[in-house]
Amino acid sequence: MLKTAIIGGSGYTGGELLRLLLYHTEVEISAITSEKSVGNVAQLFPNLKEKTDLCFEKNNPALISKKADFIFLCLPHCAAMDSAKAYLKHGKKVVDLSADFRLKDYKVYEKWYKEKHTAKALLKDAVYGLPELYRDKIKKAVLVANPGCYPTSAILAIAPLLKSKWAKGVDLPIIIDSKSGVSGAGRGAEAAYLFTEANESVRAYKIGTHRHTPEIEQELSKAANKNIRVSFTPHLIPMNRGILSTIYIKKAINAELLLDHYKNFYENEPFVRVLDSGALPDTKNVRGSNICEIGIVEDKRIGMTVIVSAIDNLVKGASGQAIQNMHIMQGCEEGCGLNLLPIFP
Ligand SMILES: NC(=O)c1ccc[n+]([C@@H]2O[C@H](COP(=O)([O-])OP(=O)(O)OC[C@H]3O[C@@H](n4cnc5c(N)ncnc54)[C@H](OP(=O)(O)O)[C@@H]3O)[C@@H](O)[C@H]2O)c1
Repeated sequence: MLKTAIIGGSGYTGGELLRLLLYHTEVEISAITSEKSVGNVAQLFPNLKEKTDLCFEKNNPALISKKADFIFLCLPHCAAMDSAKAYLKHGKKVVDLSADFRLKDYKVYEKWYKEKHTAKALLKDAVYGLPELYRDKIKKAVLVANPGCYPTSAILAIAPLLKSKWAKGVDLPIIIDSKSGVSGAGRGAEAAYLFTEANESVRAYKIGTHRHTPEIEQELSKAANKNIRVSFTPHLIPMNRGILSTIYIKKAINAELLLDHYKNFYENEPFVRVLDSGALPDTKNVRGSNICEIGIVEDKRIGMTVIVSAIDNLVKGASGQAIQNMHIMQGCEEGCGLNLLPIFP
């Protein structure tokens, strides 16, 4: 059994890791941390009542390293970098769910996150944890930067196009219109995410300034082998989980041919489902699962192609993908414990 620890386990991604790992046949959770909460984890996660004896403890890398060999960091950005440094020093493998190691250039991180990067030396060896693009590098990594939820939905939907013959002549910027459920903001209460503020309402936010923008541009530029710019607009919608991204490509491409290309591209990928012509993704078809659904439509009349993707932000957009990365780093079967059927309705 692989002994794992969940650092920052009282939040939504930590809770989702618990849900997914408690009955994992190859993994044992040997520590879970919170700085504010004490006692049995089920007091904070009532869905786990009587399912575990795990209790919260403080994040003490020296102590936790004695109990666990694989570390999930579920901390806010900036709080994760020092923990990553400490656990790596103790010889542990780390998947960091925060943004601290996603951007290769620390100056870009410092500009967008408005914080000093205190673990710059780790950036060059940190591997961006999108298995569909970086599986071989993830296999050898000791530090994996788990992708952001919006970037996962956008990059999986756009990268195959940028790596194809149709990339030529795509006008920039690519327009990404994404909608996220409220759990994307984490468990920390802020007035904007209260039921009374978010329910019965849809709002755009951080247009052109959202911190996932440079991450999406970094990865799409690598895929295209040239500089890619995106216009990224996130929206908050009144549902618990899920992200739907609608992507506008300024070039008409035959949807059937492009779908064939996507199906080939993702042929051996267990967690990407490319839909047949005419079908479109829906967040309820992926909720609770590690699947990303992708659909494509050509809008011939105005010479555009529209790509739509759907994920569960807490699973393929966070904790499920983190477990997928752990499996790859450990040489385990990738789908172990992750072949979850979507919750329906
Ligand atoms: N929510 C999503 O859909 C999603 C998707 C992809 C990636 N992420 C990223 O994953 C990370 C965790 O997200 P989340 O949604 O789980 O957040 P969350 O619900 O707010 O939980 C954050 C966790 O970090 C702990 N924490 C907060 N401030 C801390 C500090 N200064 N030092 C140490 N621990 C601290 C909290 O524990 P205590 O306060 O109890 O100590 C809590 O356990 C974030 O970096 C987020 O950006 C989230």
